[in-house]
Amino acid sequence: MPTSFSPNGLRGAAAAASTLRRPEGLDPATDVSTMVDPEAGLVDRAVFTDRTVYDTEMRRIFARSWLFLAHTDQFRKPGDFFQTFMGEDPIIVTMDKQRRIRAYLNSCRHRGARVCRADEGQAKAFTCTYHGWSFGLDGALISVPNGGGYPEQFRREDWGLVEVPNVQEYHGLIFGNWDPDAMPLAEDLGDMRWYLDALLDRDPEGTVVVGGVMKWVLQGNWKLAAEQFATDWYHVNMSHASALQVLSPTGQGPKREIAERTGRQFHNDHGHAHGFPVHPRNRFDAKTVHQWYDYDALRERLGAERVAGPLTNGHGTVFPNFSYLPVNGSIRVWHPKGPDRMEVWAWTVLDKSMPEEVREAQRLYNLRTFGPSGIFEQDDGENWSECQAIAHGFMTNSTPLNYQMGIGTDRQEPGYPGVTSELLSDSAGRAFYRRWAELIRTPAWHEQA
Ligand code: FES
Ligand SMILES: [Fe+2]
Repeated sequence: MPTSFSPNGLRGAAAAASTLRRPEGLDPATDVSTMVDPEAGLVDRAVFTDRTVYDTEMRRIFARSWLFLAHTDQFRKPGDFFQTFMGEDPIIVTMDKQRRIRAYLNSCRHRGARVCRADEGQAKAFTCTYHGWSFGLDGALISVPNGGGYPEQFRREDWGLVEVPNVQEYHGLIFGNWDPDAMPLAEDLGDMRWYLDALLDRDPEGTVVVGGVMKWVLQGNWKLAAEQFATDWYHVNMSHASALQVLSPTGQGPKREIAERTGRQFHNDHGHAHGFPVHPRNRFDAKTVHQWYDYDALRERLGAERVAGPLTNGHGTVFPNFSYLPVNGSIRVWHPKGPDRMEVWAWTVLDKSMPEEVREAQRLYNLRTFGPSGIFEQDDGENWSECQAIAHGFMTNSTPLNYQMGIGTDRQEPGYPGVTSELLSDSAGRAFYRRWAELIRTPAWHEQA
């Protein structure tokens, strides 16, 4: 007798114990939240491949979450603009004449072409290249060729660019939210701020962007990257074995302090998370940067735990798709481009008061490790694409994935705000999918009557 096989690919006791269910016939009204089971640590692989799941994410996660737009340093004078995406929606971020940073849907109200086609730059107005409607820095429609041809009731004030109602900044990072009543950004981040500040608040003068925005495409669902940065330290010794070998001073492989890391993994109930090894000594792998830092002053400013932990190594994700590495200064967005593809956009963010040669040393260190040609980045991108490449096979797609490491290890740990778990744990991954399920089963602001 063959063993019983369920459409979810679960067998025996695992099937009985789990609430993991894939609904029959996915359609937009379908509740897809049962496709993850954070308590049992199981994820249905179709959350990475299914079009309906993806469309629901756009409606219920991306249209109501705080999404990273740009860094304040990219806007120095009125008219400076940067083009980005919120989910798959094209967005212009710009500084208006009152020096306020605002964000608009980059789509002309006439026939819908993009009114800004440059990646970034300086503009006095955004003029659509299709028929010539022109919009000011405040989004207002300021000129219409052959305006006299429109009926009397046509009012230009009704046809300005659609504005993102909620744009807020946290320590130089600008986020936008389509929900007009969204919880304020700082409140949404909650305890995550303590971890994020290991990157953003080292320097009383704040941070700057160096080296432009690097962009590349990967085959892989956006969640593969977002959850790895939230949760996954387990992959490091295996996936990055050759990179660690290259960086080892003896050439014999990484020192024990690297191979046998201890550390913690934080998450909160908004799905934000940060994992960090605790190093016995403060260290930046870039020597020039390491020597420049005054660690006593940093400990005074940020506390000993934060300097030995999140500042010294680690990575995190602000749910849903913004991630960062404090020690490298790499911040990135995993832009969704369909269930199977993402675009990675990465900035290098450094302390403002760093002298030029230290900035350059850290920029190069960042490029060597993370960034399109970084030795660690290559390993990660290859893994995500590998997972995605085979995920559409029927049997493969019917077999759920295991997120069970560290179940039951969540606790409060002195010195670290919020709930943490072991460094090697899927705890933050489960928190990521718990938040995902919560949002995806709840109608969003635009679905309320
Ligand atoms: S589409 Fe923009 S002016 Fe016609
Ligand atoms: Fe990695």
